Amino acid sequence: MLAKVLSAAIWGLEAQPIDVEVDAGKGMATLTIVGLPDAAVRESSERVRTAIRNSGFRFPYTQRITVNLAPADIRKEGPAYDLPIALGILAASGQIAAEALEGSLALGELSLDGSLRHVRGILPAADWARHHGIRALYVPAADAAEAALLPELAVYPVPTLAALVAHLRGEEPIAPYSGTPAGEAAPPRPAVDFADIRGQEHAKRALEIAAAGGHNLLMMGPPGAGKTLMARAMPGILPRLTLEEALEVTRIYSVADLLPADSPLIRVRPFRAPHHTISHAGLVGGGRWPRPGEISLAHRGVLFLDEMPEFNRRVLEVLRQPMEDKQVTISRAQGSLTFPANFMLVAAMNPCPCGYYGDPERACTCSLGAIQRYRQRISGPLLDRIDLYVEVPRLPYEKLRKLEAGERSATIRERITAARARQQDRFRGQAPMVNSDMGPAEVRTYCRLDGEGERLMQAAMRQMQLSARGYHRVLKVARTIADLEASAEIRLHHLAEALQYRQQIFVL
Ligand SMILES: Nc1ncnc2c1ncn2[C@@H]1O[C@H](COP(=O)(O)OP(=O)(O)O)[C@@H](O)[C@H]1O
Ligand SMILES: [Mg+2]
Repeated sequence: MLAKVLSAAIWGLEAQPIDVEVDAGKGMATLTIVGLPDAAVRESSERVRTAIRNSGFRFPYTQRITVNLAPADIRKEGPAYDLPIALGILAASGQIAAEALEGSLALGELSLDGSLRHVRGILPAADWARHHGIRALYVPAADAAEAALLPELAVYPVPTLAALVAHLRGEEPIAPYSGTPAGEAAPPRPAVDFADIRGQEHAKRALEIAAAGGHNLLMMGPPGAGKTLMARAMPGILPRLTLEEALEVTRIYSVADLLPADSPLIRVRPFRAPHHTISHAGLVGGGRWPRPGEISLAHRGVLFLDEMPEFNRRVLEVLRQPMEDKQVTISRAQGSLTFPANFMLVAAMNPCPCGYYGDPERACTCSLGAIQRYRQRISGPLLDRIDLYVEVPRLPYEKLRKLEAGERSATIRERITAARARQQDRFRGQAPMVNSDMGPAEVRTYCRLDGEGERLMQAAMRQMQLSARGYHRVLKVARTIADLEASAEIRLHHLAEALQYRQQIFVL
């Protein structure tokens, strides 16, 4: 007898339907899985066999069982096929009616005792299901909240194989998941509040502009200047994710298997701070079954590269393309795939290897050549993509102590939220978009300068040898500065401020 159960495979951020066909026929008692399964899927046969027996059902030991995962040209990975395979075997051996499975999709790993375990990629599978008329989605109970983030889909939280069989037989129905998606929870308290950062008004202003328009920023200063502290304060001033953005980010974390179990919807902008020893694949994504890298985990949030020159130069260079495209493409024999990677880069570095070049109190011990080599680890093209450069001086302790507490993060965030609302109005229909996302056409439309502004820009182009990219980036920052001031036009002082963040600090 042949039975068929629908399941799903994850490729990139998308789910693809997989038919799990189970044939129980006469012949030697064997269980074979075909259709490009990986090792974890092959191991499934042992788990399924034991789970079926331990759930009080009959494993058809006297029959030859063939499991085909179709289409055969899509690689199948991981343990999520345990549940559909078990259901297929029970249907093929007449223990559940084949009709009971019609119009449903099942995913889940089985424990040996028949209980279901969490699997990754539930959200993309649920999204596929609701667009393809699936009337019942069976997932591990632990994953039901994630599947139910999307409307218009009946999600059944399955605790055990036995419970699902009782449901399918109509003996004891499982109630569809009805937990309401968590309401507007208060944003979590950030680790560092801006009020705790004394002085450094210039750097704080740059961070505010960066957060308001999604611009890239680099802080340079000696050790102890507060660069790491300020970067860590960023999450507290970033506006909340819109629901659309939250679902986008959650999908990435679902595939990367990084969703928190208790409330799966990611509502806070990501802040990722990978260590400088990170590999190429860890940063941009990769692996045999490509997983999102840090740049995608930072999508719609911040990628913080602390001590940037310590990163492998080749690894840093791969950031260039995604910083332009806001996404990353990974090629594999099975075809290429794309992960979103629209992140704000926040980077920090010392001015030289010893850290004290330019410090008023401590002498720098580095040779000029050593300083140059150190700075050249950040290539020109990468620097060209940084919108805001800020020098962060070290404040002596006595001076720090005397300074007043600054503005609270919540206050700054209100200004940023207002500036983002203006951007949303501007880019209506292209949301979620911020000033840094503007292409050349939008820059021409929305970043017009008056005569005075044009003249300043011409002079700056000559003096600072701005590239065409640099020119556009200055205009976008000026647009954000104007937005923070609720100004429809870019005025001269907006442009002047934007230009000052482009000072060529890399010229010694
Ligand atoms: N402007 C500041 N206001 C308050 N504390 C500061 C400031 N600058 C530095 N600190 C203190 O010094 C510590 C070291 O700062 P850190 O951010 O690690 O410096 P950096 O990353 O520039 O080397 C911080 O944890 C903080 O306690
Ligand atoms: Mg630091």
